[in-house]
Amino acid sequence: MIYAGIAGTGSYLPERVMLNAELEEMVETSDDWIQSRTGIKQRHIARDDESTCDMGLVAAANAIASAGVDKNDIDLIIFATSTPDQTFPSTACLLQRELGISNNCMAFDVQAVCAGFVYALNIANNFVKTGAAKCILVVGADCLSKIVDWTDRSTCILFGDGAGAVVVTAQDQPGIYNSVLHANGNYANLLQVPSGVSRPGNKPYIEMTGSEVFKFAVNSMESIVDEVLTDTGLEQADIDWLVPHQANKRILSATAKKLSLPVEKVVITVQDHGNTSAASIPLALDVAVNDGRIQRGHLLMMEAIGGGFAWGAVLLRY
Ligand code: COA
Repeated sequence: MIYAGIAGTGSYLPERVMLNAELEEMVETSDDWIQSRTGIKQRHIARDDESTCDMGLVAAANAIASAGVDKNDIDLIIFATSTPDQTFPSTACLLQRELGISNNCMAFDVQAVCAGFVYALNIANNFVKTGAAKCILVVGADCLSKIVDWTDRSTCILFGDGAGAVVVTAQDQPGIYNSVLHANGNYANLLQVPSGVSRPGNKPYIEMTGSEVFKFAVNSMESIVDEVLTDTGLEQADIDWLVPHQANKRILSATAKKLSLPVEKVVITVQDHGNTSAASIPLALDVAVNDGRIQRGHLLMMEAIGGGFAWGAVLLRY
């Protein structure tokens, strides 16, 4: 059997930190309200001239170095983002160019909003299992500050910019045990950017019905954990670390409670990063690998939900 495993991790955060106090100057809100409803204390904001690909490039270079692979051994780049640099080419192709990969490897983007990284990891797993690729660069990066309505207090407090990356390689032990994905487009209007390329309009910013998203997120994250454990021979009690999408500390606490997982076993970075969409899981993973919490051999559960709704989970041994 061939399995996919994570050989290395990397991440990047823009230099500029925006504290809640700065938002108090922009909209009618308070540090207290933001922290008590979301757990967020600060977020990083990209420079005007800093793009999603620019951020992904640093994260990818770090992941390649951490994996110890030759960049020209990469045979596929999957770039999860909802904020691509250009309509086309894909951000994956732009990243391939910036990395100087000269082997004509496959490259494409995945658009599943905040679930983008678990979608991309699931696809990488299937490419490895079928033998179609052996060394895959999976990047999650978003520059949500550029599609936030900075006058809308119900959304602008939530989001931040950043990038995370992993190198996935073929190995003879798991690795990824299982991964499941779902989507339901009937919920599209609860979390959306209404204007786009083929449907232009005057609403190019994030709109969200927060309380409905919150309810759906808690319920779907609970059920997907059971689903991804099915037929793996593993149980909730075997999970060493939950590495979830970082949207709201209250969603993370509710999920941990439903899993009977002590909150100390949940990697939580939302206080420092805000919601960085496709970047949030690989960013959290890299933080916990670098500070020594996540060790080789640990069992990780990753799960995310975002606009669509699209949601999914990955169970893997690091
Ligand atoms: N500062 C102060 N007050 C605010 C505010 C802000 N930034 N944003 C909203 N409010 C107000 C509302 O106007 C409302 O006031 P009202 O009762 O007078 O109408 C009140 O706070 C409660 O709003 P509500 O939306 O019910 O709050 P909430 O407890 O649901 O928290 C979110 C709002 C956005 C933090 C929460 O719904 C959430 O996190 N949802 C999920 C978001 C998410 O995860 N999105 C991404 C998924 S990938």
